Amino acid sequence: MSQPIQIHKGLEEIYVKQTRISLIDGKNGKLYYRGYTIEDLVKHSNYEEVAYLLIFGELPTKEKYEKWINDLSRERKLYSGMKIFLQEIPRWNPPIDVLKSSIASLGLWDQNANDLNMDALYYKVVRILAKAPSIVAAWYRVRRGREIIDPRPDLNSAQNFLYMLTGTEPDLEVADMFDKILILHAEHGMNASAFSGMVTISTLADIYSAVSSAINTLKGPLHGGAAGATLQMLREIGSPEKVEEAVKNKLAKKERIMGFGHRVYKTYDPRAKILKEIAGKLATSGEAKQLYETALKVEETCMELLCKTRRICPNVDFFSGVTYLALGLPEDFPPAIFAMSRLAGWIAHIIEYLQQNRLIRPRAQYVGEIDKKYIPLEERG
Ligand code: ACO
Repeated sequence: MSQPIQIHKGLEEIYVKQTRISLIDGKNGKLYYRGYTIEDLVKHSNYEEVAYLLIFGELPTKEKYEKWINDLSRERKLYSGMKIFLQEIPRWNPPIDVLKSSIASLGLWDQNANDLNMDALYYKVVRILAKAPSIVAAWYRVRRGREIIDPRPDLNSAQNFLYMLTGTEPDLEVADMFDKILILHAEHGMNASAFSGMVTISTLADIYSAVSSAINTLKGPLHGGAAGATLQMLREIGSPEKVEEAVKNKLAKKERIMGFGHRVYKTYDPRAKILKEIAGKLATSGEAKQLYETALKVEETCMELLCKTRRICPNVDFFSGVTYLALGLPEDFPPAIFAMSRLAGWIAHIIEYLQQNRLIRPRAQYVGEIDKKYIPLEERG
């Protein structure tokens, strides 16, 4: 007799590869990139170095680091055709949609886009990592009817992104905090978007297509869209005094508290702890301060109602929306910022999978009818 088919809804607890890229210790609330704790990387490293570490497996030597930084810096400038594209598309489009289409279009500028050889991939990786922040910053300006600013070679990724938004010298302390935000979002194991990128590369499609599959998957509210949804929830609640009643009402109606819960973490997400500190430093006035204080109260209330009892705890998105608001970014920007930093992790997974590639081809159990009689259109009721 054949075994009953087991359906793995949401692929929970299904392992699809072995990895050396990152470890999420969901029980103890720890996250390691290539063996290093994120706390150490946030303290001692920078986004570019972390991206190198994730993609190539080890911290670069001084020589490799300098080449990496120079290569990234040279590739930040947007192609003139890309600038025209950004200036012509309708301005209502959220940055994540603009980023996904623009990254996919990068392949159109690369005549050897399909080359999956490691030497060729190096330059494609540099191109994707370097141009993504420039695309998001350019879109910020185009939507305001302003000129796109060209990158400055003397600035690092975080500083340059802030510079390309405003055209003014970035505040180095703020840029340093933004750099830490990029590190915190750079990688997170076999999540929906990384898997999506892997599925695409498993067909031996090109890396631009694989990365854009990952961005497409990130955009949903249950994944990368949660920072914006959290901000919206905090705005609806309005102020710390209204939190307790609002949260209880939501839970009674079986609504979700945005920025809480995670498939793997069953304790406080370590990234959220660091982001809470950063948000506290940045959100010192105006709406950002008000929403940060509201968030603190939601956190306190839900630690009792959700985290301690049901293991549904703050995730990376809980404080990130407020952080972006404090940085002056519009509310539809968080998924794009998330994507531009997560590129490092996606690329690492795509390359790692490619080295042990097998076409990803799961099955679906058919539960419909068979042998139905075809009824011609004119005879159907
Ligand atoms: N608030 C209230 N209840 C919740 C929440 C939440 N945020 N998250 C899960 N639950 C409850 C569900 O209602 C469900 O309850 P039930 O068993 O009584 O029906 C139970 O917990 C299990 O929920 P699932 O959706 O099956 O759990 P899953 O592991 O798939 O959920 C997810 C993970 C999607 C992140 C979920 O916690 C959620 O929707 N959170 C809010 C959105 C969010 O913050 N997403 C960002 C995730 S982090 C990231 O992707 C970067």
